[in-house]
Amino acid sequence: MRIEIICPDDWHLHPRDGEALKSVLPHSARQFARAMVMPNLKPPVTTTDAAAAYRERILAAVPLGVAFEPLMTLYLTDETPRDEIRRAHESGFVHAVKLYPAGVTTHSDAGVTAIDRCEPALSEMEKLGMPLLIHGEVNDPAVDVFDRESVFIETVLQPLLARHPELRVVLEHITTKEAVDFIASSRESLAATITAHHLLYNRNAIFAGGLRPHRYCLPVLKRETHRVALLDAAASGNPKFMLGTDSAPHARRMKEADCGCAGCYTAHAAIEFYAEAFESVGALDRLEAFSSFSGPDFYRLPRNTEKIVLEKNDWTVPQTFSFGENELLVPLRAGEVLHWKRI
Ligand code: NCD
Ligand code: ZN
Repeated sequence: MRIEIICPDDWHLHPRDGEALKSVLPHSARQFARAMVMPNLKPPVTTTDAAAAYRERILAAVPLGVAFEPLMTLYLTDETPRDEIRRAHESGFVHAVKLYPAGVTTHSDAGVTAIDRCEPALSEMEKLGMPLLIHGEVNDPAVDVFDRESVFIETVLQPLLARHPELRVVLEHITTKEAVDFIASSRESLAATITAHHLLYNRNAIFAGGLRPHRYCLPVLKRETHRVALLDAAASGNPKFMLGTDSAPHARRMKEADCGCAGCYTAHAAIEFYAEAFESVGALDRLEAFSSFSGPDFYRLPRNTEKIVLEKNDWTVPQTFSFGENELLVPLRAGEVLHWKRI
């Protein structure tokens, strides 16, 4: 069995930098025509100049003969000036601005401490139609880790949308039924990305037979009811839901540690994981809309025209990939058999 779809894009990717970038980028470039590049480097990508330089480093890591376009984002801080938003918009290569509430995830310590501090940047984005991409979790240690997304929607996102009625927003890597319902019932200019791992796993996967650090990411996997709601949303054909892998590589020793980093690596088999998820609910015919149409339509970019072919053909995921010069990376489903293969 084989299916053909228009080449997909990844609307949420962490390709990292330096030697690590060279190791992981070819996986994404093989599958996706474009990717929305997250700015959480150290130091973060807070200016258009930094985004331009990072873009060049990404382009230099694209394998010869492969066409891949990095779509850049800026990292929003309490101090991002209005002018920087204007510059980013005019550049033509910065497509959005990413909001990390300070302290919620990997390299978010320079993030936003209180959203009202960002009013100048937000009102400029609203005026220019530049999307705000949100890591939607509160960072309050008193809030249960499994509730941080739904509490964020109520306490931060709803008031933000009310204050900025024209602001275009993507709630990134949604993980709950609350998020699905909220997106589906609100304005057109609010969309969401969904990862493959949140479509394939519930939180039991983190504890299957022991602690599984390579299945730990943020926002953390949730209960089965949430996974089912996400899969329904992705396969519904509703254009507000789009593919975003959140593929977030970390060196093996940083994951298998006393305090392991958050992030699942899925770029090596991203479209195959999504195909598996869609097939599980008999919705392979909806995969293309989710993977290849919703994103460009939301971002007002042209849809891709090239096609890719996926075939039912068993293959085994490698145990590790090299990650930079001296590190290893453990991909999702390491050593396991996958049934779909992009050819
Ligand atoms: C991401 C990373 O490692 O950069 N980690 C993750 O668990 N998803 C950051 C993020 O998107 O939260
Ligand atoms: Zn991410």
